[in-house]
Amino acid sequence: MRKNPRLLVVWWSNTGGTTQLVEAAVQMTQKLGSDPNYCEVIEGRCDRISAAALLAADGYLFATPECLGGIAGPMKSFFDRCYYPLLGKLNGHPYASMICAGSDGEGAIRQIDRIATGWRLKPVAPALKVITGAQTPLAIGTPKRIDPSDLARAEELAGTLAAGLALGLW
Ligand SMILES: Cc1cc2nc3c(=O)[nH]c(=O)nc-3n(C[C@H](O)[C@H](O)[C@H](O)COP(=O)(O)O)c2cc1C
Repeated sequence: MRKNPRLLVVWWSNTGGTTQLVEAAVQMTQKLGSDPNYCEVIEGRCDRISAAALLAADGYLFATPECLGGIAGPMKSFFDRCYYPLLGKLNGHPYASMICAGSDGEGAIRQIDRIATGWRLKPVAPALKVITGAQTPLAIGTPKRIDPSDLARAEELAGTLAAGLALGLW
């Protein structure tokens, strides 16, 4: 592992909820990152993340809305694109996930966990699930505003993942 481990945040959002969780997570880790020994944090929308970027990172935070009982389509495409090229190459790397869902979120969590199991990634914290309550067509299409308490949970999860990487805990 390089001196400063690298945490890669891979995400998708349709109506901004997941984006806010990612922003909170990245801001927190960048605050902690003023320590030169701390880990480097990189984020990218999933359609812009290559298999090479995954390979160059030491740990992962996957963030997505739940759509139709699973991860959002672009997030699925990202995993489809990267899964086989990286099979057997990420073994043991730590990960966590953040799911923004209207009412459920469990299907998306399970789907990421199954993919991560195939990659032999190591789960280091329970998935963060944020329920926005959007269940009608109007509410589903409306830009989301995430509660500060949920943003704090995103900060905490990212801080835990990044600190563990920096300390070599995982
Ligand atoms: C096509 C579509 C399917 C959805 N399916 C689900 C679902 O299966 N379960 C759920 O809890 N929420 C579902 N939702 C609601 C979103 O997960 C919810 O609006 C979430 O807050 C969106 O996050 P975002 O703002 O990051 O896009 C769906 C939304 C869309 C647009």
